[in-house]
Amino acid sequence: MSSRMNADRCTVVVGCQWGDEGKGKIVDVLAESVDVVARYQGGANAGHTVHVGDAEFILHQIPSGILHAGKRCLLGNGVVLDLLQFFEEYDALVARGIDLEGRVGVSLRAHLLLPWHRVLDRAAEAGARDKIGTTGRGIGPAYEDKAGRRGIRVADAANLPRFEELMTRGAERARERLVALGLPLDGAEAQALEEALERSMGLRERILSLAVDTGLEVDHALRDGQRVLLEGAQGTALDLDHGTYPFVTSSNTTAAGAATGIGVGPTRIDAVLGVVKAYTTRVGNGPLPTGFDEEMDARMRELGGEFGATTGRPRRCGWFDAVLARYAARVNGLTGLAVTKLDVLDTLPEIALCTGYRFPDGSTASEFPADTWALGDIEPILEWMPGWEQSTGGARTLEELPERARRYLDRIEALTGAPIRMVSVGTRRSQIIHVA
Ligand code: GDP
Ligand code: IMO
Ligand code: MG
Repeated sequence: MSSRMNADRCTVVVGCQWGDEGKGKIVDVLAESVDVVARYQGGANAGHTVHVGDAEFILHQIPSGILHAGKRCLLGNGVVLDLLQFFEEYDALVARGIDLEGRVGVSLRAHLLLPWHRVLDRAAEAGARDKIGTTGRGIGPAYEDKAGRRGIRVADAANLPRFEELMTRGAERARERLVALGLPLDGAEAQALEEALERSMGLRERILSLAVDTGLEVDHALRDGQRVLLEGAQGTALDLDHGTYPFVTSSNTTAAGAATGIGVGPTRIDAVLGVVKAYTTRVGNGPLPTGFDEEMDARMRELGGEFGATTGRPRRCGWFDAVLARYAARVNGLTGLAVTKLDVLDTLPEIALCTGYRFPDGSTASEFPADTWALGDIEPILEWMPGWEQSTGGARTLEELPERARRYLDRIEALTGAPIRMVSVGTRRSQIIHVA
């Protein structure tokens, strides 16, 4: 793998399930051999966990390359930048000894996620019939404002009177919306919002000091022969267009979103590495076709530590869904796969993969269906394989894996149709297999 990855100057790392595939760990490992890491969409809904030695870092907005000294980390125009959370995260990293001087850039074209977006997100969920189970980070309302052409961008902060006017108008619109939803703010909530707005205004100069044209910077880096990683958040099944709509996030998580979300043409991307967990998880509402029964669900959650990195919510677990993975290979144009958390399956006597879906009328599908509601009714067609019942955490080459684990990976590769380039067998940086 390493020789190929090294030849690829611009690589997208994209989640291929419902998020939490281990993108943070994969980006952290790959960041060592690149110069720039840039996030292309999402906001503080993401939670990317990275272990460095015994320390654990959970990154929400700052790219997972930040833990490698000297690497430049960018937040692209496709991101919705939560000002308050961003600087909280920034300062927490500095407090833990990470030198960020000159290393972080945010796009002038990125839209700001402001305190009222969080309030609106929670209000929308409270009033919804089909609750999405969002992270409550204001993502939907921020992207609504962007698409509605009333958003506020980082570049707007450069003109103080205009910025103040946009902020006042935005806050007023949010208050009106809350009244229309029948959920007006009470006195304490109104005061908390006011304070949060003031704190946001106070960050104006600080954010401007980091503002750059990310598309231009990435273009220059690539022209200079530097290597760039474009880091996705969430996953393919949460993509606004390609996911299990409406139980999705509000951005294009898939690889094409990297070009738009950074500001480079798609022809500049050399490789697309899809990250899949060796099984499946989902947090939030919506169908999980390969979901386990209650007992197995609890067991896997325990084995895999499957609790949301952002909200702490338990993740639902299921078998590896090859229908979804093959779909992800297609819509992302995957050139390679990174399989994570193989070690979590170490103790299971039998392991299944889902190769197709059976609908209640007996018909079957091998392609991921567009009808999300139908997806909720399917029965997975499972292929069973014997487990390896041995520890894999020490393996550093495919040959060091138990034969049955290799057979399982071969099946994932054959069913997905993309070559496996990396296998992760634990949380540590060293627990990685690079496939030649
Ligand atoms: P992301 O959002 O895609 O970056 O994934 P998360 O960080 O939300 O969730 C992945 C979790 O699995 C994190 O707690 C990681 O530390 C952990 N993890 C990543 N790779 C491995 C692995 O190969 N084995 C194990 N056991 N844990 C892993
Ligand atoms: P990372 O980057 C897993 C889910 C939420 C909800 C839906 C919409 O860590 O993989 P939103 O707050 O985005 O409007 O919520 O998307 N979701 C995630 N699930 N990992 C994530 O990010 C997620 N970000 C959002 O649970 O179902
Ligand atoms: Mg996560």
